[in-house]
Amino acid sequence: MKLINTVEDFQKVRKTLDKSIGFVPTMGNLHEGHSSLLLKSKTANDITILSIFINPTQFNNEDDFKHYPKTLAEDCKLAESLKVDYLFMPSPSDIYPDKYTFKVSELNTSSILEGKHRPGHFEGMLTIVLKLLLIIRPTRAYFGEKDFQQLILVRKMVEAFFIKTEIIGCPTIRNKNGLPLSSRNSRLSAEQFERAQMFPKLLHTSESTEMIVNQLISAGFEVDYIEDYQNRRFAAVSLDGIRLIDNISLEAI
Ligand code: PAF
Repeated sequence: MKLINTVEDFQKVRKTLDKSIGFVPTMGNLHEGHSSLLLKSKTANDITILSIFINPTQFNNEDDFKHYPKTLAEDCKLAESLKVDYLFMPSPSDIYPDKYTFKVSELNTSSILEGKHRPGHFEGMLTIVLKLLLIIRPTRAYFGEKDFQQLILVRKMVEAFFIKTEIIGCPTIRNKNGLPLSSRNSRLSAEQFERAQMFPKLLHTSESTEMIVNQLISAGFEVDYIEDYQNRRFAAVSLDGIRLIDNISLEAI
């Protein structure tokens, strides 16, 4: 695996690549969910590129950004073991030479659900994904369905800006109790982690969203939203300030 730390170096390497490229953008702290995206990329493309970049512009909460888990040594080992070809890890100043004066805004889907509760999050996310797609120029890019609204927005942006990359959505990977794997799970204490198992269980019940909200609140969760939208149930909660999101197809209920 070749490590590349600057946009300039990556662009030099990119000129030499004329095969199909699969790209998995991440913010690191890799887990089985990321592995599943990398394995999908490995089977469908000649070259697999992983990026690790904790994107400051998509955090609307300073504490969340400060405490975002960083496990670089383990991430490199995992990427090596999965035979990733290139690991791209640029710095914020390299990615934002304009100091984030240019940004991508979407005026429809980004104002509901996550967008309503995390002002600026989707602007930051779409901006970094656009920049990465323009730098990497992959044949296919892989995104987990855990961030389903992100996936919808990335697909719409790629269509709007005539970007050639095919966006592949991949199923959410869950633990044995149905809790989606997420980098933020590693911030939960043992007791919080135990309590978090109730979140997907309640989400999958056929109760109304109002009933689910009440039960989650009684179990000590703060609830941002539980909303049914376009045949899916979307949810975001916090446990002592640590935010968890999930979504399921309403057909799974
Ligand atoms: O899903 C994520 O980890 C991030 O939003 C992404 C797509 C890597 C952009 O920073």
